Amino acid sequence: MASAIDAPSTGAGADTEAGGTKLFVIRLINYLTNHGVNHLPSYRLRHGWYRTVLGVKLGPGSGIHLNCYVWFTGPGRMRREGLLTIGNHSRINRNCCLDARGGLTIGDNVSISPDVVILTMEHLKDDPGFATVTRPVRIDDHAWIGMRAMVMPGVTIGRGAIVAAGAVVTRDVSPGTIVGGVPARPIGQRGLDPGYTLADSFPLLE
Ligand SMILES: CC(C)(COP(=O)(O)OP(=O)(O)OC[C@H]1O[C@@H](n2cnc3c(N)ncnc32)[C@H](O)[C@@H]1OP(=O)(O)O)[C@@H](O)C(=O)NCCC(=O)NCCS
Repeated sequence: MASAIDAPSTGAGADTEAGGTKLFVIRLINYLTNHGVNHLPSYRLRHGWYRTVLGVKLGPGSGIHLNCYVWFTGPGRMRREGLLTIGNHSRINRNCCLDARGGLTIGDNVSISPDVVILTMEHLKDDPGFATVTRPVRIDDHAWIGMRAMVMPGVTIGRGAIVAAGAVVTRDVSPGTIVGGVPARPIGQRGLDPGYTLADSFPLLE
């Protein structure tokens, strides 16, 4: 998925294609998703909503923990363009922010630690209309994103790579590389090519 420049946005989550009733419905779905459903203490209910209402592709064995904020501009677009895809046996821990506006693809057995933010849209700082641009993010199989890390728009994180806690990732990370700091720089190399399957337990109240 390539970068795309959109018209200026007037507010968080505003769907510039939509107007009137449609915009209200999108805002209502956004409100229910991010201030209601994400607090329900049941994976089954949350996952059911993400899959059927938002059109998230969520593979078997994968789990989205409580209090995840899914940033989207409309379920129709999510569904049409497959903007949020999570493979098998991957884990999105508590309090994460998944920005699906520009397309976010997460592979298999990916571990996303608590409080991680992944962004796929930003403003063009030198554009007279403050237009937005979307840049998709891809996180490949067996990557591990440490707690409170932030992944910036357009980044690809390679298979088995590790992002240290608190890092801000502004550039692509090669497979098996460990990056840390702000901005993130290589600090090491993973000692194995991971082949594990993450546990698919779904504890109630998490
Ligand atoms: C990156 C990480 C996996 C450690 O990897 P490691 O290979 O064992 O790294 P080391 O501890 O040997 O440190 C290597 C270097 O990276 C630095 N480093 C380690 N963690 C760092 C971090 N979060 N940010 C910046 N630098 C870091 C160390 O200071 C060290 O630097 P130095 O060589 O200049 O002394 C670990 O620090 C980390 O961030 N884990 C995530 C923990 C987490 O999020 N837990 C919650 C979910 S389970």
